[in-house]
Amino acid sequence: DEAITVANLAKQMGVKATEVIKKLLLLGLPANINQALDFDTSALLASEFGYEVERAGFEEEEVLQVQQDHPEDLRPRPPVVTVMGHVDHGKTSLLDAIRHSNVIAGEAGGITQHIGAYYVQLDTGDVVFLDTPGHEAFTAMRARGAEVTDIVILVVAADDGVMQQTVEAINHSKAAGVPIIVAINKIDKPDANVERVKRELADHGLIPEEWGGDVTMVEISAKKGIGIDDLLEMVLLQAELMELKANPDKPARGHVIEAKLDKGRGPVATVLVQEGTLREGDVYVCGTYSGRVRSMFNDRGQRITVAGPAWPVEVVGLSGVPNAGDDFVVLADEKQAKAVAEHRQVKQREKELTRTTKVTLEKLYEQI
Ligand code: GTP
Ligand code: MG
Repeated sequence: DEAITVANLAKQMGVKATEVIKKLLLLGLPANINQALDFDTSALLASEFGYEVERAGFEEEEVLQVQQDHPEDLRPRPPVVTVMGHVDHGKTSLLDAIRHSNVIAGEAGGITQHIGAYYVQLDTGDVVFLDTPGHEAFTAMRARGAEVTDIVILVVAADDGVMQQTVEAINHSKAAGVPIIVAINKIDKPDANVERVKRELADHGLIPEEWGGDVTMVEISAKKGIGIDDLLEMVLLQAELMELKANPDKPARGHVIEAKLDKGRGPVATVLVQEGTLREGDVYVCGTYSGRVRSMFNDRGQRITVAGPAWPVEVVGLSGVPNAGDDFVVLADEKQAKAVAEHRQVKQREKELTRTTKVTLEKLYEQI
């Protein structure tokens, strides 16, 4: 775990990396400049140059330790709701209806280009919505153990019924243990068949309440604005049952919803703050990168300086573009953040190298 790269070891010994690589070759260990060396190898190598290597023992868990919250520090927070469903079943239209603003108009060809994250203030309470472009991001997040969603709204078009991605969404939600509320959409269409949709959903284990099951199903038309209030009421009811809480009075932690390289601003990440409060100027580690919040923006592109639990914010000031699902942890100082990021980079490189080596060997065997 205390791996060090060839480049880094060379730098610390004040010798050229090529010298180190040459020496490694003589030891029968061909390596490249980015290769991570384990403790024994680096110790052996260093002794060749007249140095002694000490075990520093960097424990990421210690730096990133989660402090337990006292119950009295916890405050209610809005639910985070992910809208899922088959292509074209009306996820974005539903969000659009909820926000009373036309998101679709801004999308190329009406296809969701990214995960939108919206903070919606309703008369009855606040809700954070995530729009998914498909299930990849959700899957990626689950693979990383990042649970960002409290509730899933499963949109099923009444004229199309349960489709492949509907089933995938059901499976993802079940595996993550997230409650599902079904929105049977497009009921305004002449060929809408609500009963058929319910039957198909029941076949996949989602039994509607009116049939004695425990799944709330609301009939809606995102286009005509029918049933939207009922759906929101059900979401807030479900959220109430869950008693969602977070401690706002500590350094922020959250996860990356999406990230991109912006021409003008550099790496930009949409981060969902899950606990604590994020402030401009905060230093953090995010996946394998570190940074300082240079500026942040809410879902309407307005500049803000603080963001509490359940707030989706766009953060500018990263050293690179992280992945959806990466963690975001505010730390005490830059040195610490850089150390964690560097440590993770070394680990990642190690993993990649193992993978490359395996692939190369497999290729080799194929040729034999
Ligand atoms: P992807 O993001 O591409 O997966 O699609 P989506 O699920 O976000 O669907 P979107 O909201 O883009 O809607 C797809 C199409 O269905 C659009 O042409 C919408 O106008 C139409 N649509 C959505 N909701 C309704 C509805 O309630 N009634 C009718 N008639 N059409 C709808
Ligand atoms: Mg969409």
